[in-house]
Amino acid sequence: MITTTAPGKIILLGEHAVVYGQPALAVPLGALQTQCMVDFLPENGENTADSVLIEAPDIGLSTRLGLLLRDQPTHPLAAVIQATFRALGVSAPRPMRIHVTSSIPVASGLGSGAAVSVAMIRGIAEAYQHHLDNEQVNELAYEIEKLHHGTPSGVDNTVITHNRPVYFVREQPIQTLHARHPFTVVIADTGVAALTRESVGDVRKLWQADPARWEAVFEQVGELVRAARDIIESGETASLGPIMDTNHALLQEMTVSSPALDHLVVAAKKAGAEGAKLSGGGRGGNMIALVNPKKAEKVAAALKKAGATHVMISQVG
Ligand code: MEV
Repeated sequence: MITTTAPGKIILLGEHAVVYGQPALAVPLGALQTQCMVDFLPENGENTADSVLIEAPDIGLSTRLGLLLRDQPTHPLAAVIQATFRALGVSAPRPMRIHVTSSIPVASGLGSGAAVSVAMIRGIAEAYQHHLDNEQVNELAYEIEKLHHGTPSGVDNTVITHNRPVYFVREQPIQTLHARHPFTVVIADTGVAALTRESVGDVRKLWQADPARWEAVFEQVGELVRAARDIIESGETASLGPIMDTNHALLQEMTVSSPALDHLVVAAKKAGAEGAKLSGGGRGGNMIALVNPKKAEKVAAALKKAGATHVMISQVG
């Protein structure tokens, strides 16, 4: 039996503008994990898509690949398995069971889709005793992201595949973000599921209608991200708070915030957070607040009181 895992992720700064070539900062969240277990079953003389059992109890799925492809040909799990088989040159799959579980909430900006892809790609490859390096895994996971998110930047699959903090620029080699001193963030979930594909699509419509205006906004985000990288790498993280606030205001301008996100951002600031913003696709999902470690519990409690369905305190660096 092969077991593989992949972490969740959180974007510190730069979401949406990153789709248009600006940098973003993102870190893995090891407290949240997707796990994939793969084992081969006894040969039954049939090496077809129906020999592959898929179990994903979190989404109530227990089926065979062949059946899934017939009923829901674009199902994300079917797409991951097929893409991995193609990459491994497997045309007649041996009977196998693929079991996926995840503690990463779906549609909440924490990378659940990319983590499922990465854990499954690695699990299936290892079961077939194929070594795929990070770049190959990342490329395959990006292929799946493109199927389901329209025009993703690739930041989610990259930070999750490499499992380290990144300064990410679309189509450029990965750069690691080195935090000189660790800093503390509080992450809170609005409990509202929101599809990244939709918010990314809506920003695209804005950009298509007025490219000059929106490229100027994306450029402002890019400047914030470059400044934040210097701050994090030099250890002066106290000045990161206002950068997060400004990034949130620019995301509001892009129409990807929501009343629930704004409410949590205000609650975090009132409780003493140094900065706060939505994180990920927006419209729902999670927000992130920078806090002095001594105030982390107070900010977390205020976020719960303000209606957050789930709150975590995490260290970056
Ligand atoms: C989603 O985690 C981040 C977005 O910038 C989309 C992307 O980069 O593909 C909203």
